[in-house]
Amino acid sequence: MQFYFVLAALALFAGQALGLSVDGGSVGNVSAIEVIDIPAGQLKMDCQTACAPAFSAIQSCDVSDDNCLCKNETVVAVRDCQQCMYSELIKKNEKMPDPRAGSTPVLSAYSAACLASVNVTIPPQAIALTVPADWDGPNGMSMGLPAAVLTVITTALIGVGGIWIVCSM
Ligand SMILES: *[C@@H]1O[C@H](CO)[C@@H](O)[C@H](O)[C@H]1NC(C)=O
Ligand SMILES: *[C@@H]1O[C@H](CO)[C@@H](O)[C@H](O)[C@H]1NC(C)=O
Ligand SMILES: *[C@@H]1O[C@H](CO)[C@@H](O)[C@H](O)[C@H]1NC(C)=O
Repeated sequence: MQFYFVLAALALFAGQALGLSVDGGSVGNVSAIEVIDIPAGQLKMDCQTACAPAFSAIQSCDVSDDNCLCKNETVVAVRDCQQCMYSELIKKNEKMPDPRAGSTPVLSAYSAACLASVNVTIPPQAIALTVPADWDGPNGMSMGLPAAVLTVITTALIGVGGIWIVCSM
C-alpha cells in the first residue's frame, strides 16, 4: 500500500514541469537558480551581496513559472550577479572556477531557454557583461608575454650560436 503511494508520488513529481532548463555547458542543463548557484568558494563569497537580489528574485518565482523567471527584473538580477563574478575574475586574472561563473554563454542560454519556453525575447543588452571600468585593458594584462617570449628565443639563439661556434672550431 505504502509502496504504491510512493510510486504515485514519484510519478506525480516526474510529470511536473521543472521550469526553465538552461544549457550550462559542461555542467549540463541547469535550473534558473543553478545558473547563479556556483559551488562554494572565494568567488561565491565575494559576490554574495551582488548575487543576493538574483537569488531572491528567482526564489520568489514558482519553480515552474517560466514567465516569472524570464521577466526583466529577474533576468537583470541574474545578469548583475554574473557581472560581479565576471568582474572579480578579471580583476584577479583568474580562470572561471565553474562554467557558470561570470559566463556570457550561460546568460545567452538563459535567454534562449526563455524564448523556447515562454516566447520571451530578452534584449541582448539586458544580459551583456561588461569589462570593469578600472581594468587596464588587454595590453596591461599581456604586457609581460612578448618580453618573456623574446627572452626565451634570444636565449635559445645564443645557445645555438654557442654550439655552432664550438662545432665549427
Ligand atoms: C538539455 O536540454 C535540451 C533542450 O531541452 C535537450 O535537447 C538536451 O538533451 C539536454 N541535455 C542534457 C544533457 O540533458
Ligand atoms: C529592465 O530593468 C532594468 C533595471 O530594473 C531597467 O533599467 C530596464 O529599462 C528594464 N528593461 C525593460 C525592457 O523593461
Ligand atoms: C512569440 O512572440 C512574438 C513576438 O512577441 C510573436 O510574433 C510570435 O507569434 C510568438 N510566437 C509564438 C509561438 O507564440
